[in-house]
Amino acid sequence: MKIITGIKELVGIVPQGVLRKQGPEMDELSSIKDAFLTVEDGLIKDFGPKQDCPAAKPGDEIIDAGGGMVLPMFCDSHTHICYAGTREREFIDKIGGLSYEEIAARGGGILNSADLLHRTSEDDLYAQTMERVCEMVSKGTGAIEIKSGYGLTTEDELKMLRVIRRVKENSRAIIKPTFLGAHAVGRAYAGRQKDYVELVCKEMIPAVASEGLAEYVDVFCDEGFFTPRETSCILEAGAAHGLVPKIHANELACSGGVQVGVRYDALSVDHLERTTDAEIEVLKDRRTMPTMLPGSSFFLGMPYGRAKDFIASGLGVALASDYNPGSSPSGDMRFVMALGCIKMRLTPVQAFNACTLNSAYAMGVSSVTGSITKGKRASLIITRPVPSLAFIPYCYQTPFIKEVII
Ligand code: NIG
Ligand code: FE
Repeated sequence: MKIITGIKELVGIVPQGVLRKQGPEMDELSSIKDAFLTVEDGLIKDFGPKQDCPAAKPGDEIIDAGGGMVLPMFCDSHTHICYAGTREREFIDKIGGLSYEEIAARGGGILNSADLLHRTSEDDLYAQTMERVCEMVSKGTGAIEIKSGYGLTTEDELKMLRVIRRVKENSRAIIKPTFLGAHAVGRAYAGRQKDYVELVCKEMIPAVASEGLAEYVDVFCDEGFFTPRETSCILEAGAAHGLVPKIHANELACSGGVQVGVRYDALSVDHLERTTDAEIEVLKDRRTMPTMLPGSSFFLGMPYGRAKDFIASGLGVALASDYNPGSSPSGDMRFVMALGCIKMRLTPVQAFNACTLNSAYAMGVSSVTGSITKGKRASLIITRPVPSLAFIPYCYQTPFIKEVII
């Protein structure tokens, strides 16, 4: 058994069975001051005020938190970290004034990453992806969803998903794989979008499912990418193979993606830089978690999602990094939390809930991680001695992690 002592405050305690927070629950944060926590077989065994701490037995490991706080690790329900190389050229083009859509229309963007990925060996892609996972874990993320979507041929989509499987097998973080064949139309199908959608439905999805390589299916349902109709076809093909939807929607326009996602009972609808009240309305009383990605708003200079309006309407909100080479080249969830506060005007407590339990929910793992709960995975951040939870997004660049236990 591990016994963590010297905890100034144990933060993020959630009762068993609570899988997400919505509306006013987003303001709830339960904690214990001067606490202990025990870990057995990698799971949280017990916690409470320090006077109840069990005496150490021979063989127990004592970890002194040194007056730091203990928090659940962040969960990152939306990433594209399985990619090859980088895209600084487009970064410079963006500085020069080109938009994300203009870069994509010139054959840059996702297709550029697909070309790079095609030329990269599986071993090299694995090494690059694993390096990103390790960096994310060191910054406090304990669960990561990873999408395909830079293959855009059956062969290369499978290559990506096999790499993601290997990452899953070799990382201590929870990894959840998502098939995103409909991220863009592959080069060989230029001008033949309908045929590409058919390829996704009839060839890619069955191939992915037959190897059990993905749990979720995603579509970039947005202006200039895939329509709600095409999205429906892909989600139906996915459902026939047991793939649960998680959708890219409303990044570039009010695309109808939220509505189609909800219709197919998506686990999450993500991006939502643009939303009208109609989208908020359709999300009410559904299992779908609205997920916002402020890192891409920051990097692309787009509007930030209306998280406060969602919460005021009784909905929950999750935050994720969208870590990818084109619109969010960072997987730092602490920075995501800070953007949630600074740019979306979430309180630190709301942003924390959005980055932990709700993001875990949006990737289907909130029954096993995302909070301090007996029986959940002991994926924990021990902080340096910081004055409060709010300090973390406030002094958003001051190192705050003493140690992660995963
Ligand atoms: O979530 N929006 C679509 N996909 C990514 C960007 C991918 C890329 O540019 O490589 C995103 O922003
Ligand atoms: Fe994305």
